[in-house]
Amino acid sequence: MTSDGKFVLVIGRDGQVARSLEEILSASGYHVVQIGRPEADLRNPALVSKAILASRPDFIVNAAAYTAVDQAEDEPETAFAINAAGAQAAAEAASNVSAPIIHFSTDYVFDGAKRAPYVETDTVSPLGVYGHSKLIGESLVAEANPKHIILRTAWVFSPFGSNFVKTMLRLNRERPEINVVDDQQGSPTYAPDLAATVCRIIDRLHTFPPNPEHFGTFHATNGGKTSWYGFARAIVDGAAQRGAPHAIVHPIPTSDYPTKARRPAYSVLSNEKLSYVYDIKLRPWSDALSEALDRLFSVPHGEKTATSATRL
Ligand SMILES: NC(=O)c1ccc[n+]([C@@H]2O[C@H](COP(=O)([O-])OP(=O)(O)OC[C@H]3O[C@@H](n4cnc5c(N)ncnc54)[C@H](OP(=O)(O)O)[C@@H]3O)[C@@H](O)[C@H]2O)c1
Repeated sequence: MTSDGKFVLVIGRDGQVARSLEEILSASGYHVVQIGRPEADLRNPALVSKAILASRPDFIVNAAAYTAVDQAEDEPETAFAINAAGAQAAAEAASNVSAPIIHFSTDYVFDGAKRAPYVETDTVSPLGVYGHSKLIGESLVAEANPKHIILRTAWVFSPFGSNFVKTMLRLNRERPEINVVDDQQGSPTYAPDLAATVCRIIDRLHTFPPNPEHFGTFHATNGGKTSWYGFARAIVDGAAQRGAPHAIVHPIPTSDYPTKARRPAYSVLSNEKLSYVYDIKLRPWSDALSEALDRLFSVPHGEKTATSATRL
């Protein structure tokens, strides 16, 4: 615990959310330290605990995870080690230094049978290994540290790392026509908006004593919903407005694009609890996409600018 209470330890270095957190928390006056592989590999819980106990942060954000949804079907042990046991170790160590932990989970904890936005208390029933490993991680984090905030998010994109927006921009450059699945609906979510959400939550916890309602599971996605096809159309249209080629995007059913892992047909998340408890409402995904495209078209490959965050 530091005297000003503004030391945030982020687990994860080069992931989309980790990099966004580094930018936003540092700019908001927090002292940010990032840890990650190899010295804090989530597959080795003892290393993660050691790093947390040694640094004694005021807040811990776990932005690291095994996120390869299809690959997880072939590597369940690794997915569970990182997303369940690794997350548990981080939450336990956070509890040992009396720090709240902010952890991320996924819309893929749901099976997609619903046709109205999922609320936090809806029945979970993941269709694949990734969703299952994240769900077990949620329970273990919650059990290990009463001061937990689990943010379930979805369809994350950013100027950083690998994501659907960057894949579509590449395909748009390489091909005249692109086929994209149109029968899965969700809410694309901009990693910097998610990081800003985390920052506001930490601001709140830092400024006033929290109530029990400030902890628990919350849904946090950008507003609005679309299909992967609708998202791809918006990306290609936005790229063309910025001088790129304009591929034709065709809608296809999931059955024409088989993947190892099954995905929910509908995974829109209601953000009402986040709005009610924290007064946070993320902007529509289309506005966030516009900002992401501006960044991607102005800075080669979305490379990051200077930052004051410490990298261990
Ligand atoms: N991406 C999505 O569409 C999506 C959707 C729903 C929920 N989420 C959740 O949102 C959170 C952030 O996702 P993201 O999109 O930022 O993920 P990402 O871009 O794939 O980054 C994953 C991060 O995890 C780190 N990591 C992976 N294995 C690790 C290990 N064994 N030990 C330590 N660190 C490890 C990576 O480390 P390196 O920096 O070393 O590569 C990277 O920083 C995750 O909890 C994810 O499950 C993501």
